[in-house]
Amino acid sequence: MEFVPSRDNEIDNWKEVILVYTSALKQIETKLEILNDEFQHVHQYNPIEHIKSRVKTSESIVKKLRKGGYEATIENMVKHVNDIAGIRIICSFTSDIYQIAKMIANQQDVTLVSVKDYIKNPKKSGYKSFHMIVTLPVYLSDRIVDVKVEIQIRTVAMDFWASLEHKINYKYEGDVPDKLKKELVECAGMVSDLDARMLAINEELQNDRNAR
Ligand code: GTP
Ligand code: MG
Repeated sequence: MEFVPSRDNEIDNWKEVILVYTSALKQIETKLEILNDEFQHVHQYNPIEHIKSRVKTSESIVKKLRKGGYEATIENMVKHVNDIAGIRIICSFTSDIYQIAKMIANQQDVTLVSVKDYIKNPKKSGYKSFHMIVTLPVYLSDRIVDVKVEIQIRTVAMDFWASLEHKINYKYEGDVPDKLKKELVECAGMVSDLDARMLAINEELQNDRNAR
């Protein structure tokens, strides 16, 4: 069942929305912890470096709705804002990203809504990351609702780049000088090189270990 707030006043509805999205994030986090522990058990290493999650602030939700030309209502936010619940998974290697994405999507109660692979197809800015929108059921006292979560998966190096680029965009309010933009694109190239080399080293290490 698609999530529709059920209370009869806006404040209670708002509280219900936040509760439902917070619950969805908790569930995804637990799933990831289990996957990471199991991976450690089977392969003797943790694919996940760390995880950050957040529920979008009311200010950002309203801003996004207005930008999309929607009236700021609770109904519209549930329908049109895909990243109210957001989780970012930071990995060591690019290969971990695809493995984690597959493990999440394969879970029986997780429904994959959409995928954007900005690793295979980086943005013009140089941005690289793997994005998925999924829904998963949250069990409320009187019903089960499907809740959307945006999952971003990236390497430590991609995350380093994205954080700085985000800060710069924020500072210049999107109007970043061309010279800086060019520099960021160059750095994004270096991030890709670094990720590829680190992966190659790690693969060699694994092969050595297996050969021994
Ligand atoms: P948003 O409306 O920004 O959420 O974009 P979208 O609906 O087209 O989805 P997309 O998957 O492209 O981006 C979702 C999120 O990815 C953003 O909210 C950012 O967190 C991140 N992101 C996307 N592009 C960039 C980028 O160029 N730089 C950085 N730093 N982050 C980005
Ligand atoms: Mg967003």
